[in-house]
Amino acid sequence: MELVFATNNAHKLEEVQAIVGNRFTIKSLADIGCSDDIPETGVTFEENAKQKTDYLFHKYGLDCFGDDSGLEIDALNGEPGVYSARYSGSRDMERNIDLVLSRLGDNPGRTACFRTVISLFLNKQQYFFEGVIEGHIIHERRGAGGFGYDPIFIPAGYDKTFAEMTPEEKNKISHRAIAVGKLAAFLKDNAD
Ligand code: IMP
Repeated sequence: MELVFATNNAHKLEEVQAIVGNRFTIKSLADIGCSDDIPETGVTFEENAKQKTDYLFHKYGLDCFGDDSGLEIDALNGEPGVYSARYSGSRDMERNIDLVLSRLGDNPGRTACFRTVISLFLNKQQYFFEGVIEGHIIHERRGAGGFGYDPIFIPAGYDKTFAEMTPEEKNKISHRAIAVGKLAAFLKDNAD
């Protein structure tokens, strides 16, 4: 069975394919010849993920899923949230991290979480799957791995940032892994 993943990120695609297993062939946007800039104008992760699957279903009529993720910091009222990729107005993650650290200052309340929402459109039905990992934001960057806000986020129960973990360590506990695990379990039970 084929499912289109609304992404061109080869790394994400491989990760999902590995978790979902070979009963499903996951195709990228490029695989179906879609080079459109799919709108992402929602104010929640759900809205953005749904925009991707609505767009693909209406244009191609294919079963598909799409995700949206970000960092939510309690002391910043959930920011950067859906604006995580462009919080400082640019995609430059150094500037985005600097902005988070300067907005937090020396505020002792530093709890935060990463959240992923996946929208699945299967047999004309809409489903959502969510993954959340709680943690806190440290005062300075640590670690060279990962991407995005990984150098400033320590998951609860650990003493390493996501950027200090190996990809295997992070991928066992990450918000994305939790959401994809739920998607994979659902697909195993519901698709023939
Ligand atoms: P996306 O929706 O998965 O593309 O994520 C949007 C933005 O959220 C990324 O550009 C990152 O800034 C941030 N983000 C999402 N997941 C992670 C993660 O696992 N680590 C660090 N930053 C992340």
